[in-house]
Amino acid sequence: MFAKASLAAVAAASLLGSAAAAPLLATTLQLDKRDPVYSPDFNITYSSNHSEGLPRTLIMATGGTIAGASASATDSTNYRAGSIGVAALVEAVPQLLNVSNIDGMQVSNVGSGSITDEIVITMSKLANKALCSEDAPYDAVVVTHGTDTLEETAFTLDATLTCNKTLVVVGAMRPATAISADGPANLLEAVTTAVSPASHGRGVLITLNDRICQAMYCAKTHSNYLDTFKAYEQGFVGALLSTKPFFWYPPSQPTFKTVYDIANVTEFPRVDVLYSHQEATFDGVNASVANGAKGFVGAGTGAGSLSPFASANLAYVIQQGIPVVASTKINNGAVVPSQNATEGSYISSAFLNPVKSRRLLQILLALGKSTDEIRDAFEEPLRGYLY
Ligand SMILES: *[C@@H]1O[C@H](CO)[C@@H](O)[C@H](O)[C@H]1NC(C)=O
Ligand SMILES: *[C@@H]1O[C@H](CO)[C@@H](O)[C@H](O)[C@H]1NC(C)=O
Ligand SMILES: *[C@@H]1O[C@H](CO)[C@@H](O)[C@H](O)[C@H]1NC(C)=O
Ligand SMILES: *[C@@H]1O[C@H](CO)[C@@H](O)[C@H](O)[C@H]1NC(C)=O
Ligand SMILES: *[C@@H]1O[C@H](CO)[C@@H](O)[C@H](O)[C@H]1NC(C)=O
Ligand SMILES: *[C@@H]1O[C@H](CO)[C@@H](O)[C@H](O)[C@H]1NC(C)=O
Ligand SMILES: *[C@@H]1O[C@H](CO)[C@@H](O)[C@H](O)[C@H]1NC(C)=O
Repeated sequence: MFAKASLAAVAAASLLGSAAAAPLLATTLQLDKRDPVYSPDFNITYSSNHSEGLPRTLIMATGGTIAGASASATDSTNYRAGSIGVAALVEAVPQLLNVSNIDGMQVSNVGSGSITDEIVITMSKLANKALCSEDAPYDAVVVTHGTDTLEETAFTLDATLTCNKTLVVVGAMRPATAISADGPANLLEAVTTAVSPASHGRGVLITLNDRICQAMYCAKTHSNYLDTFKAYEQGFVGALLSTKPFFWYPPSQPTFKTVYDIANVTEFPRVDVLYSHQEATFDGVNASVANGAKGFVGAGTGAGSLSPFASANLAYVIQQGIPVVASTKINNGAVVPSQNATEGSYISSAFLNPVKSRRLLQILLALGKSTDEIRDAFEEPLRGYLY
């Protein structure tokens, strides 16, 4: 099933990315503009020629650095994210076509800071249709995404994908025009991981820099360098050798993971993250509520604590029945729930960092859960475990 890949092939893929990227931008691509091969439900703009016996992968491209371009090969900070389309991404890595049949769709072409709730909900629905529906047309899905908010999209997809097939989210730290662009190798490794039967039943995976990480806890940990996606406490679940995934252990899912079916959800309510620090006031919370906020997440200093001024201002919000989740700006460790769930207090995020807490709160609010149900969803597993 896998290409007879070698380290040389990986290196060649990288080189291909950097060497090919400049001409890719300058010339008109010979796109294969046939009708969607597998399903009219997906707007396919790239379709590889079908090879019998190879799995079928849907690539949903959203933009980001992996599709980024700069006039300079040494520029890895001032490039334009989301410049290259899905067909060019795939065509820069012909090795992909020895691994899987590929259909590509362009969900968006933006930097990850511009990814909206609508884009994420659309991708969740498409991924469920592609992988989990009756007569599912695809074996695997790969999402290409900017790295800055990649963990938010990956977490949401992980929390809403209703079957055990594999979805991999991938990005790059260097634009396609850079020397040693990491995008081509990352994309190849994302596809080899996505189509590997060994990946099933592990939830949504993130692959970058030759490592495989589960979406629930994986997060960006460095703003510039390649070895950025990590789950500090939980670790990597696998790594890639000659572009082939190797998993350290058999399939398992994070202990407290719950999957929610959002088939009927059309939008996520607004939830704001508030970053705490000395003398933080959060005195804009009433304005946020007036502007439509339905929940808040506090990125607390340490284990969920907020400044007294911030707490005082949030007390009124909580009184109004608006859920406030206390997480930690440290991005690691737990905000531990108290032994007895007490009404009118913060909801503890347990092990979820602020942005992941935000996504879970949005999902729960979108499903119409009450504040008590939301508290239980966040706190009950850890409370039950500890007390
Ligand atoms: C496909 O494209 C059409 C026309 O742009 C759009 O209305 C539709 O929502 C798209 N469907 C998907 C699944 O992206
Ligand atoms: C598909 O095959 C045809 C005929 O061999 C070739 O001209 C075309 O470039 C191929 N397209 C892709 C996307 O590989
Ligand atoms: C794909 O596989 C064929 C057959 O093994 C090989 O000849 C070809 O070089 C491979 N192509 C790429 C791009 O790896
Ligand atoms: C899904 O994967 C898990 C392992 O993570 C396994 O325990 C479970 O049986 C699988 N479910 C199905 C329906 O195959
Ligand atoms: C979605 O709505 C339909 C129609 O009301 C209902 O039959 C179905 O159970 C709902 N699905 C979920 C996951 O809520
Ligand atoms: C929010 O509104 C309530 C009710 O009007 C008021 O008591 C409270 O002081 C306001 N909080 C802030 C921070 O403006
Ligand atoms: C929590 O509630 C239980 C049962 O209602 C009670 O036995 C226990 O003392 C309470 N614990 C705390 C810390 O309030």
